[in-house]
Order: sequence, then C-alpha cells, then structure tokens
Amino acid sequence: MSITAVKGFNDILPGDTELWRHIEETAYYLFRAYGFSEIRLPIVEKTELFLRSIGETTDIVEKEMYTFADRHGDSITLRPEGTAPAVRAYIEHKLYTSAVTRLYYTGPMFRYERPQKGRYRQFYQIGAEVFGEASPRADAESLVMLMKLFERLGVMGATLQINSLGCAECRPAYKEKLYNYLKGKAGSLCENCLRRIDTNPLRALDCKVPGCIEATKDAPSIVESLCAPCKEHFDRVEYFLGLTGITPVVNPRMVRGLDYYTRTTFEVTADTGLGSQNTVAAGGRYDNLVSELGGPATPCFGFALGIERLALIMQGRAPKEPVTVFIAMGDEAERKGVELVAAWRRAGIRVIEEFSAGGLKGRMKRADRLGADYVVILGENELASGVISVKDMKKAEQATVAWDRALEIISAQK
Ligand code: HAM
Repeated sequence: MSITAVKGFNDILPGDTELWRHIEETAYYLFRAYGFSEIRLPIVEKTELFLRSIGETTDIVEKEMYTFADRHGDSITLRPEGTAPAVRAYIEHKLYTSAVTRLYYTGPMFRYERPQKGRYRQFYQIGAEVFGEASPRADAESLVMLMKLFERLGVMGATLQINSLGCAECRPAYKEKLYNYLKGKAGSLCENCLRRIDTNPLRALDCKVPGCIEATKDAPSIVESLCAPCKEHFDRVEYFLGLTGITPVVNPRMVRGLDYYTRTTFEVTADTGLGSQNTVAAGGRYDNLVSELGGPATPCFGFALGIERLALIMQGRAPKEPVTVFIAMGDEAERKGVELVAAWRRAGIRVIEEFSAGGLKGRMKRADRLGADYVVILGENELASGVISVKDMKKAEQATVAWDRALEIISAQK
C-alpha cells in the first residue's frame, strides 16, 4: 500500500503554488510600503510560551496543540499561531531598543482541529504585528492595510467586524455581569461553557452549540460596559477607519479564541463558500502581552490571515505564467540553443527545453504536454539561414523570424 500524507496536512501543488506566491508577494510589497520588516520564526517553541500567552482555558491550549517531549524530556509545541513567538523574539532580542516597530511573518501553524475544507491541522498564515503604538491610529492603520491587501488581490465583499474587549479597568466588571447572567442560564449551557463559566465566561459568547447561542442571545454587551478611555479608543478606531471609507460592523459577541487581547478585536469574513470557515483574517490589540512575558510595557496590535482560505476565495485567479518550450533539432542547433535560451531566461522568460529524440511531430506533442504557450524550434535549415521558428500554440500560428526577433514575440506573452 502506498503512503499518503497525514490527515489535515496538505501538499500545495503547482497550479496552486502560483496563487500562493502571488498572495505572499502582494502582501510583502504592501506591508513593506507600511514600514514592516520580515521576521522568520522557529516552528517549535517551549510549551510554556503558549500556555502563558494564548491562555490555559482556550480551545487551542486545552485541545489543539501538538505538544510533545523532545529527546531531552523538554516540553515543546508546534506553534499554533505566530503572535506569541513574535513577542518572544521581540523580548529575547531586545528589539524594543532598536528601530523595529513593525514585524510581519509567514509560515505554517499547527492545530489539532477536525480537518475539513478550509480547516487544516497544518495551515499557513501571513501575520503582521505593530509594537509600541498605543494610538487607535495604529489599529486603524493595520486594518486599512489588511483591507487594501484584499482589494489588491481583487477579493470583493470582505467584511470587517470589530469589537472591544476592554481593559483591566472595565473587563472584570463586565465579566462579573456576564457571569451573573450566565449563572441564571446555567440549565441551557453546554458542558464546556459551564466548566469555563468561572474562569472564562466570555467564551460562552463564542460557543457554536445552539443551546448556548440561544441562552446568550440577550447577554449584556461588552461595548456598553467599556470604561471611558476604552470607549474613546474604540470610537477613534471607527473614526480613523471612516476616513478611508471603511465602515466596520460592530459585533459585541466576538470574543476570539485567544486570551491575550485587550480593547480592539476584529475578524474579516469573506465568501469562501464554506460557512463557518469564512473568517479569512483576524486579530486585535494586545497591550499586556509583552510585559506579561517579561518585556517592558509595550502596547501592540496585530493580525493574521489564513492563506488556504484566501486561496479558496481566489481559486483560478493565479497570475498566468506563460511557458516557452525550446526544441533544438541536431547537434549544431543544440549548441546555438545554449546561447539563445540563456538570453531568453535572462530576459525573464520561462523556458523549458524539450530533450527527447525523434521527429519533430513527436517532439511538438511533448511540448504541448509541457504546457507550451510558444514552441521555438531551431532546425538545421533555420540555423543555416540565421532564423528560428516560433509557434503560437493558442493561435496555432507559426512564424519564421531572425534570432533576436524571437525574444520580442515570446516576451509579448507576459
Ligand atoms: P486566529 O483567529 O486564531 O488568530 O487565526 C487567524 C486566521 O488563521 C483565521 O482567521 C483563519 O483564516 C486562519 N486559521 C486559523 N486556524 C485555521 C485552520 N485550522 N485551518 C486553516 N486556517 C486557519 C491568530 O492566530 C492570531 N495570532 C492573530 C493575531 C495576530 N492577533 C494579533 N496578532
């Protein structure tokens, strides 16, 4: 029996990788324009990092982490997300003493979730984190950048939902209010929500069990319980978004699955055609995480987007990468071909050389199977006259032209 990939871990194949690279490159150039620098983070971290940042009573920590002991017996975890590792690196390398304030990263994350379309155990994120900015303008700037990315990629109809989770001043009072409300509904809550009601009552607002959705329908709203500075911050984020023509939907039930957030949180949904897997990006403010992990007080804002989900929306929209196949007939033509092909590649043309022996007819068939948009043929007769044949496979037209004209024709395909 042949061996297949582990369930929930995918190969990303040619045909899709072009789209992935297009997404990653578009993000790279856009984020650069906003002053972000790339950081490359390890795939494993000490387990403690995620316990202390994501929160011990979250789904991720309770049931989704790939945690194991290495050969030395140390507990390590495949990163389920990138924010905690970015913060760890920020503190470890004292980046707060440098000019670095904006970091972005891309790479695989690992969560032991039930695999289905749009939800995998290894999935890829592009994340961006802003350090040391308390201003609501920073929240708005990152959100605008994210929405610009969707726009540049031609993703229409992305919806931004925002909420505020308050701060150490106002959240405890809200938690208390919610706790009392939930206590009154205890009979209708699922086991999971009941278990977490004391430690993390907000999670009930995010529960997908129908009984819990019904029971929390009229739960007190966090947006109405914010202290004056949090309310002001929230209003300013909306104001700055408005300046760029973005009108977010306020969703006071959005609590997110990670405990490090303070104040602004958000999700961007778009039509992936997958119902609950339609959240393509999410994030928010985390003003206490750097200090909680041992660094100086540093307000932060960040987000991550799921590449698989974005790629699902953009299916079939990979930029076309035309292919030229080169066929040299005979030794002399092969020798000249070395020089010509090198020049075309220098000019950025994607050239595949067709190596099979035999007649031109068979070799043209192979060129077709190699996906040729153009086939360039150098035979002995052409060689003698200083020309070359260029066949446009789509138009089924062939022209015999001078050697340097060939580049002009095959460049036109780009
Ligand atoms: P998150 O909401 O857990 O946030 O994940 C962000 C995005 O990653 C989701 O919106 C989704 O598109 C994608 N994603 C998550 N899990 C899966 C999965 N199992 N399969 C496919 N895609 C998935 C974070 O990870 C935070 N670190 C975001 C952040 C950055 N907050 C502040 N800075």
